[in-house]
Amino acid sequence: MEKLIIKGGIPLNGEIKISGAKNAALPILAASLLSKSPIQIGNIPHLQDVTTIVSLLGQMGVRITLDERSGIEVDSSHLESFQAPYELVRTMRASILVLGPLLSRFGKAEVSLPGGCAIGTRPVDQHLKGLQAMGAEIQIENGYIRAKAKKLYGATIVMDLVTVTGTENIMMAGTIAKGQTIIHNAAREPEVEDLANFLNILGAKIKGAGTATITIDGIDELGGGTYSVLPDRIETGTYLAAAIITRGKIKLKNSRPDLLESVLLKLEETGAIIDTGLDWIALDMQHQRPRAVNISTAPYPAFPTDMQAQMMAVNAVAYGTGIITETVFENRFMHVQELQRMGATISLKGNTAISTGCDQLHGAPVMATDLRASASLVLAGLAAKGETIINRIYHIDRGYECIEEKLAQLGAQIQRIP
Ligand code: EPU
Repeated sequence: MEKLIIKGGIPLNGEIKISGAKNAALPILAASLLSKSPIQIGNIPHLQDVTTIVSLLGQMGVRITLDERSGIEVDSSHLESFQAPYELVRTMRASILVLGPLLSRFGKAEVSLPGGCAIGTRPVDQHLKGLQAMGAEIQIENGYIRAKAKKLYGATIVMDLVTVTGTENIMMAGTIAKGQTIIHNAAREPEVEDLANFLNILGAKIKGAGTATITIDGIDELGGGTYSVLPDRIETGTYLAAAIITRGKIKLKNSRPDLLESVLLKLEETGAIIDTGLDWIALDMQHQRPRAVNISTAPYPAFPTDMQAQMMAVNAVAYGTGIITETVFENRFMHVQELQRMGATISLKGNTAISTGCDQLHGAPVMATDLRASASLVLAGLAAKGETIINRIYHIDRGYECIEEKLAQLGAQIQRIP
């Protein structure tokens, strides 16, 4: 299994380009099942999760052409299978995103029930409740969600909690349902809005995406179109945190500061000097040690759970005590034990982590447990004295395009070894 070896202690310095957003690319690719016309999608990141969804669509009979320059062309005119098998869903829970589109266009879908994962139990009851309200008959059999409906009908759905992919599944289903669908307590994440923008390019009639109430007027069918995925705000935040932890100075191109307001404000509290333009963000730590920050994660526009682990690494080396409360997932502190092995002083109490910053972390062999946990270990390794060896880095390849190349471009000593 591949490992990353990092020799820490070098302040990051330089410029890199941010990739397209994983969590927008995945629903957009799934949504292409809704149309029988050809669709071109640009700014798709090269990631393991994208490969997984492309394989899933391929197994169903979707024809996919990859072009280095223009991106991905998807043709879902003919499907042979309406199933997302366990083998793929178990490697990527976002496979559940094919449920709404398959059911709405073809009247049937069979998707393996995603189990728990490293960050929590992660049920999909809200996805199912919404689709049932639209007329779907759903049964759980042999670990599979088996859904059918002659036709889906618009409905008013109040989500019991804010769910990103749950909102996306219902929104996708609503585009070609009969009548109007209204989603209350919808997720407001920029990736939900990006998906709505994409669907509207194909002819969908979605209003209010990016707010807590989304209205979808169903139409008979969607057409084709061309779309470019928005930049990845979590990749952006991760590199900014990497500059903070190494006391460096970086500029990120192809990024969208307007999508990261809560994160940028928090990063400024660490002492970082941040400058932004329309599509770039620069951060200068002026060689200073960061100050610890208090964070409570919550759905957008609050501080994202997907940046929690990275900030845990920053607090581990900061001045003072920082309190981090995780309110979105119940078990997203797996990185804490690994950071402790590098010398971090962190105590856990329920969903709260209290860290007292230490002068210096020390390199150690550590193990990645999920995507963002592995990002936090990379950050810790960049700041630590000596060598950090990160095992199980397949987690990081799910969500960070060319991470070692990008970090090397910023001056880090990082190497992937088989
Ligand atoms: N939840 C339910 N029932 C449901 C759906 C969700 O109880 O039917 C709960 C979850 O267990 C969790 C909370 O609601 O406690 C929020 O989960 P959500 O459904 O919003 O998460 P998700 O849609 O499965 C997406 C991202 C995650 C990100 C979360 C939260 C994608 C493909 N994934 O997951 O991204 O952490 O929203 O923002 O969009 C990552 O990129 O590392 C990642 C995990």
